[in-house]
Amino acid sequence: MSAQAIVMKPKPRANLRAFDMRRDLLAVADLVELCFQDSLDADGRLYIKQMRQSARYGRGLNLSAGATGSADLPSGGYVWIEEGNIIGNLSLIPVRSDGIRRYLIANVAVHPDYRRRGIARTLTEAALEEAGRRKADQTWLQVDAHNEAAKTLYAGMGFMVRAERTTWESKPQPEKVGAIQNGIEVRTQRGADWSQQNAWLQDIYPEAVRWNLPLDLKLFEPGWLGSLQRFLGERNIEQWSAVQDDELLGVLMWQSSSLHADRLWIAAREDSESLALPALLHHTHLNLRLKRPIALNYPAHRSVPAFKEAGFDIARDLIWMQLA
Ligand SMILES: CC(C)(COP(=O)(O)OP(=O)(O)OC[C@H]1O[C@@H](n2cnc3c(N)ncnc32)[C@H](O)[C@@H]1OP(=O)(O)O)[C@@H](O)C(=O)NCCC(=O)NCCS
Repeated sequence: MSAQAIVMKPKPRANLRAFDMRRDLLAVADLVELCFQDSLDADGRLYIKQMRQSARYGRGLNLSAGATGSADLPSGGYVWIEEGNIIGNLSLIPVRSDGIRRYLIANVAVHPDYRRRGIARTLTEAALEEAGRRKADQTWLQVDAHNEAAKTLYAGMGFMVRAERTTWESKPQPEKVGAIQNGIEVRTQRGADWSQQNAWLQDIYPEAVRWNLPLDLKLFEPGWLGSLQRFLGERNIEQWSAVQDDELLGVLMWQSSSLHADRLWIAAREDSESLALPALLHHTHLNLRLKRPIALNYPAHRSVPAFKEAGFDIARDLIWMQLA
């Protein structure tokens, strides 16, 4: 869709200007914290803390966006000014992978006293024009599944739902772990499992979501290539396979993270999940003796009882939207 097509009610843009990292970061951190106070999770709080630290000390900046899982600080976007104060913000984050130029719209926030005046819409229009100038192949955003205001805003601007994903999280509470299913053996993953595991991973974490997840499939490859990737990425991993009568039912991967929770990824066929997931999650709790929380991104509404039974709670339900 062209930038012109999404302009509905043009709003004067005198109060709009490009985000300036050096002078705006602290005010934007305050605004984002105020506007997202009801939905901030641990990573969100860490993100705001990093924004403040960077604003104050100007060091430790991580401006490159990508599927790193790190909290990338905003380096581009727009702010809205009223009486000298920043009361609106939008971050525009470039994410390049596999030769595709993607832009992610994030941190869209308007101070409660200034809502329903078209400010978020104007910020988004400006961002879409900017993405158009930069020859974006795709423009994306993520919105909480329960955020009706934002979903209405973006749907009205031509964004389409491409995925709904749940982030499940478990604290280290092994006593909550459910019983192992009879007849399911969990063993260390073998190189021979990889081709099936990889096919399931492509299904559960398709390219439409993988570009913005800290999931690098090469990390889990068998052989020297995987070892090299793990060494270079400074990531610890564990992989376990669930097997019944020599048939592979699913594979679970654990990956260390610098964020507040380590990561799990699951590869299984949908009709095997009810058997494989409880056994794999149980095994994970037992074997990792977790001292840190673990987080797992999964298609929304899928295998909900298995995750709950294993002591996981929903941390976030996010709708991924792409400009049509
Ligand atoms: C969502 C948010 C950014 C909207 O900002 P805003 O400046 O008030 O939005 P706009 O005035 O530009 O609204 C544009 C359209 O979005 C929709 N919309 C905005 N707020 C809405 C609400 N509370 N309920 C229903 N629709 C709403 C409407 O269609 C609106 O058009 P209309 O006013 O002509 O009916 C603001 O409410 C906010 O900061 N919320 C908290 C943070 C947040 O949820 N950010 C989005 C993260 S993805």
